Parts: sequence; structure tokens; C-alpha cells
Amino acid sequence: MNKTILITGGAGFIGSHLVRLFVNKYPNYQIINLDKLTYAGNLENIADIENMPNYKFIKGDIVDAEFINKLFKEYSFDGVIHLAAESHVDRSITDPMAFISTNVLGTVNLLNAAKESWKDNFDGKRFYHVSTDEVYGALGDEGFFYEDTSYNPQSPYSASKASSDHFVRAYGNTYKFPYVISNCSNNYGPNQFPEKLLPLAINNIKNNKPIPIYGKGENIRDWLYVLDHARAIDEIYHKADNGKTYNIGGHNEWTNIDLIRLLCKIMDHKLGRVEGDSEKLITYVTDRAGHDLRYAIDASLIEKELAWVPSLTFELGLEKTVDWYLENQKWMDRIVSGDYSKYYDKMYSNR
Ligand code: NAD
Ligand code: TYD
Repeated sequence: MNKTILITGGAGFIGSHLVRLFVNKYPNYQIINLDKLTYAGNLENIADIENMPNYKFIKGDIVDAEFINKLFKEYSFDGVIHLAAESHVDRSITDPMAFISTNVLGTVNLLNAAKESWKDNFDGKRFYHVSTDEVYGALGDEGFFYEDTSYNPQSPYSASKASSDHFVRAYGNTYKFPYVISNCSNNYGPNQFPEKLLPLAINNIKNNKPIPIYGKGENIRDWLYVLDHARAIDEIYHKADNGKTYNIGGHNEWTNIDLIRLLCKIMDHKLGRVEGDSEKLITYVTDRAGHDLRYAIDASLIEKELAWVPSLTFELGLEKTVDWYLENQKWMDRIVSGDYSKYYDKMYSNR
């Protein structure tokens, strides 16, 4: 079936993998990728699909309501998959307003534009909000996050994502607006901006620089390969009932320190170093303020109802990830030098 789908944040980490999956898998869909190209947006992530006939990139800000309303008038979107966000907890601690602006106001702007555009008939329309497990707060040693776990966000980032989730559900309840939401655990894989733990550590190990570990390294995260998240979004977008929420996770919990030790071992092997060399770079630094102790997802609902399971073991996924960063040193260098942000002007100046 022909459809026009708006994907927001498609130049970011997860969005770029999702855009590629949809553009390649659904040649009948017109995929519009809307991204502001903040520091986290990098068109080089999706340079391989740039000239596909069913793909179009538009530079724009979801906080600009007038622009968003115009966009929805220009295109008759059948669906929206919304990933654009400020996504880094540490930045949310130093600049919460940017998170309220993009994550809350930006999401509500999209909801308003979609509601207005679809008001005559919601049939076949769908607004998919991509969210995080961090909205549920922090776990102790035991237990898991379920779809009906009460929200208890602890950082400005998670509070902004919780707020946007609430707005999406409120529109569903009030206007019978057709939505789905998923809350996913920590993603890892190619193209992640090197402010997040894994790409930062890979880059530092390669360059023999200290690997900063917050606090004692005892915080636990549940890691999922980014393409498995994209596959889950595809399943939910196409198969879930309106109003549903699914938790997505890897059943793959690691303390930060154990994760970094495993990474060091893989890197020693790949870089031809003596085993134990990279571990010497581990440096304990001041803890993150309000650092959530543990996240862990119970993903049995999506497994049971949509037959989705992670496709990769963590060891394999991590090795693939390390290989990608080592083979794509130029990608990393261009981020470190800032050159990646010039790509838009070079490629799109006369379009
Ligand atoms: P990212 O920071 O890599 O990418 C975000 C993208 O959004 C960037 O391309 C950026 O340019 C764009 N953007 C930011 N503000 C914008 C604005 N005002 N208007 C238009 N575009 C804007 O983030 P990510 O890690 O790919 O996360 C994508 C989504 O998935 C986010 O909503 C995040 O909350 C959610 N999520 C992330 C993870 C994770 O582990 N990374 C886990 C669960 C959920
Ligand atoms: P991060 O990748 O920022 O994701 P999130 O905060 O959304 O879980 O961090 C993952 C974990 O690693 C988190 O517990 C914080 C920790 N961390 C470090 O110990 N050192 C670092 O330099 C970074 C960026 C994160």
C-alpha cells in the first residue's frame, strides 16, 4: 500500500537506522525525514540512501509550530514516527530548558498538526511516539519495568520524555487520536554520537585516553542493538492496536564497569594489544547527579503479541559495534573536528 510517513529525528542515532530500514523495506512508502540537525544530527549517517526515490530529507525544527503546521498541509502524512529529541541525560542536567522545548513542546506541536490534518478521519492514521524506559525511574537490585509500571522520572531528560508520553496518551483519550508508544532500554551500535558511554569509551580506548566511569561503575543498564530496536518499531508501527504501549529491551543487564571491562577485552584483541592493557585506562570520576541505579525491561508483551525478539547476542552485537567504529574512523574524526555539520550545506545548498 502507498503511504507517506514522516519520521522525525532521522539524522540521529536510532532514527538513521529506522529511516534506512523503512526506505529499503517499503519502496511504496514515501519517507520524509524531518530533522533540525542539532549537534546530534548527522546526515552522513544516512548518506547511502540519500538518492533513493522514496526518500526526502527536510531540515526543520519541531518546536516551530508554524513550520510544522505548514508541513502537514503540504504533505498528507498517513503516519508519523517521532524520534526527534534531546537525548543525553548529562546535557539535560546542565540545560533542562532545551529538553522541555524539544521533547515536550515539539511533541505537542506534532500532535496538534497531526490532529488537525487527520481530524476528518483517523482511519488508517497513526502517531508513533518513540520513548524510553527512563520514564519509569530507577530500580533497585530486583524487579523489572512493565508497561503498567508507574511513571517516576528522575532526570530532566526522563521527566521531559514522561511528559511527552503523557501528552500523547492524553490526546488518545481526549480526541480518540490514534497513537502507539514504545519505551525502549539503552541502545548501542553504529552511528551513536560519542557523548554516550559506548562510542565514547571505544574512541578513548583506541586513542589511549582515560575511560571515565561515573561513581563506582555499579549502575546497571539493559542494552539492545539499535537495529533490533528499529525492527521492533517496524513491528509495532504495522501490527499494534491503537492505544497500545510496548516495552522493548534486550534482557541484557550489565553494570557499567563489567560492560567496559568486556569492551576493553574485545578492543585489546582487535587492536592487537596485550590483554589487560586497555583496562588500565579505566578512570573513576565524579558521579552523575541523581544517577539512576538500574534499568531493566520486561519485554515479554512484545515477544508474546508481536513475536519480536532481539536478533543478536550482546557479545556478537558489541563485537560488530567495535568493528564498525574501527572501520569508520573518518566518521568519528569528522564529529570530533565538527566537519560533519558542514555536510548539509555541501549536499543540499542547491536543492
Ligand atoms: P539522538 O540524539 O542521536 O538523535 C536525535 C535527533 O533528533 C538528532 O538527529 C537531532 O538533530 C534531532 N532533533 C533534536 N531536536 C530537534 C528538533 N527540535 N527538531 C527536529 N529535530 C531535532 O537520539 P537517539 O539516541 O537516536 O534517540 C532517538 C529517540 O529515541 C529519542 O526520542 C530518545 O528519547 C529515544 N530513545 C533513545 C534511546 C537510546 O538509548 N539512545 C533509548 C530509548 C529511547
Ligand atoms: P549514557 O550512555 O549516557 O546513557 P543513559 O544515561 O541514558 O543510560 O550512559 C550509560 C551509563 O554509563 C550511565 O549509567 C552513565 C554511565 N556513563 C559513565 O559512567 N561514563 C560516561 O562517560 C558516560 C557518558 C556515561
